[in-house]
Order: sequence, then C-alpha cells, then structure tokens
Amino acid sequence: MDSITITRPDDWHLHVRDGEQMHAVLPHSAKQFARAIIMPNLKPPVVTTDTALAYRARILAALPATLQSGFEPLMTLYLTDNTPPAEVIRAKASGVVHGVKLYPAGATTNSDAGVTDITKCYATLDAMEQNDLPLLVHGEVTDPDVDVFDKEKAFIDRILAPLTQRFPNLRIVFEHVTTRDAVAFVKQTSNAIAATITAHHLLLNRNAIFQGGIRPHYFCLPILKRETHRQALLEAATSGNPKFFLGTDSAPHSQANKENACGCAGIFTAHAAIELYATAFEQAGALEKLEAFASFHGADFYQLPRNKDVITLKKDRWIVPEYFEFAGEKLIPLYANTGLTWRLT
Ligand code: DOR
Ligand code: ZN
Repeated sequence: MDSITITRPDDWHLHVRDGEQMHAVLPHSAKQFARAIIMPNLKPPVVTTDTALAYRARILAALPATLQSGFEPLMTLYLTDNTPPAEVIRAKASGVVHGVKLYPAGATTNSDAGVTDITKCYATLDAMEQNDLPLLVHGEVTDPDVDVFDKEKAFIDRILAPLTQRFPNLRIVFEHVTTRDAVAFVKQTSNAIAATITAHHLLLNRNAIFQGGIRPHYFCLPILKRETHRQALLEAATSGNPKFFLGTDSAPHSQANKENACGCAGIFTAHAAIELYATAFEQAGALEKLEAFASFHGADFYQLPRNKDVITLKKDRWIVPEYFEFAGEKLIPLYANTGLTWRLT
C-alpha cells in the first residue's frame, strides 16, 4: 500500500500551551486534525468555564487564516480540590467544555494545583455523573514510595477501580495508557470507560530513554514502559475495540527545558502525529484499523459527530526537521533529523 485515505482524525489529548508558544505549535495539529481536546494545565490552570472560554478564543485567534474554520478546540477544565459542582453545570451549559481533567497533585507538568485527595471531589464528580460531563484522568499515583514504572498500576488499584464503582455512570477517559494492566482494566470495565493511546507509547519502549546515554527527548509522563507493555498497547489500538482511540499528548517544551539537569516531561509529536500512528499501525500489519482508531472511536465516545472530510497519507520518505522555532527558543520534535516513510498530502 503506498497511499491511504481516511476520515479526518481528531486528537483527543493535546497540549497547545499559550501565547507565542501556542502560535508556534497550533498549526501542526490544525493541519491534520479537525478537533482536539485541549489540556488545561496552563500556568495558572484553566479552572473555570470563563477561563476556558477565554482560552478557546485565544486558540481560535491564533489559527492561521487558512485553517481558521477548519479546527475546533474542545475545551477542558482542570479539577482541583475546590472545584464547585456549580462549575460543572456552567461547563456543561457552555457547550464548549467537553471534560474535566484530573491531575493528581504533583504527578506531572503544572499539576501542583491538582487533586490532593479524590474524596474531596466527590460532590463535583457526582455533578459530572449527573450532567454526563466526562472525567479525563492522568492515571498515576504520586506516592513517592511507588516505583516510577508502577505508578499507573497503583493508580488503577487505589483510585480508578474504586472510582468506577462509586460513580458507575461517570464517563471516564483513562488518558495515555502505558501498561497492559491499564489495557486489561479498560477492557474489563463497563462501557463508561475508554482510553487514549499516544503514538510515542506505540512506537517506543523504555530502552529509548537510555540508548547510549540519557535521552531527555524521550522522557514523558507516564514514562515509557517495557516492551511487553508496548505490545499490549499496539494490540489494543489495532484491535478495533471502540474503547481505545487516538490522543497524542503532544507536549512541547523548549530544548533548554528538556536538555536540563531537571528536564521537563513531554514529547512533541504534533509535527507528524498521524504519520507516526500510521507507522506504528503499519509495523503491526494493521493499517486498515487506523481509521476507526483515529477518526471514529473518540468522536463516538465523546458523543460528537464523526468528521466528514478525509485526509490522505502517501508513502513518501521525508526527514523530520532538526527543530522548530518556539517563541524565540527551539523545540525538538520526536524523531528530529530522522526519516519517516508516511507523509500527509
Ligand atoms: O509528558 C507529559 N507532559 N505528561 C503530562 O502528563 C503532561 C505533559 C506536559 O504538559 O508537558
Ligand atoms: Zn497530557
């Protein structure tokens, strides 16, 4: 196969940052995706519907003229210990907020204002269940006694499984799953729970972080896992199971903030997102499964219409640039200076 045409995909988990940085990264996503779920972990975080609406307006204003009507940001709120149930009602009524994101406090980039104790959120989660507003979760515990590679599994056991029991009708997206444990949990739990999978977790295992030295551009959270877990993710993504769908978690940080004694977590993949997924699906011999994963399952779960137009990918080798301009700094993309075989036309 040297060309594939699929319904235009959506990105169900994306960081576009703000200001000049947003201007630099947004066109990459807007040229391939119709819509994206926009993460709220700005500084300060997007905790109210009003700030989500203002952020949405800034995103729309930052789109290049040619993409102005072709990309829709789907907004989210950042859950805190103090998010009032009334905010859930406002969010739902806005029509532009499509989920509330749970960051356990301290789990990842800009999560300090996140949730310290999930029981503090019960009234708000109850309002989300009643109003059918999905909960999006960063599924890692923050307990320093838990090994970094086990934080996702511990989150399932300690937080997520009890939560699905307590709120059986709350729709939940388990974001960027990285382990076979998470895949098994999502499969065996009710249809109220689904999961996104990133391209980098489909393409790489944890060896990438230590290939001949420490490689900060392969550092993200949840951290890359061992090969058996990558295989489980590939199997889930290519299975046709509607509980699994595309979410890049493209997370830009400047080169200086990555190549640092305390480097930031996040891998920038928006420059070639659909090409990277196509590469992973092709390696698994399952290119024919890409469209449903990238363009149908997420829209169906979020109860939004599937896109009508199409994109075409061609077999055409190209070299990923060494860097992109990033508000006066450099942004190093995944596979910088490396050849990719699929290209969006
Ligand atoms: O690697 C990550 N980067 N994981 C996250 O959860 C947050 C993200 C970011 O915002 O940089
Ligand atoms: Zn993320």
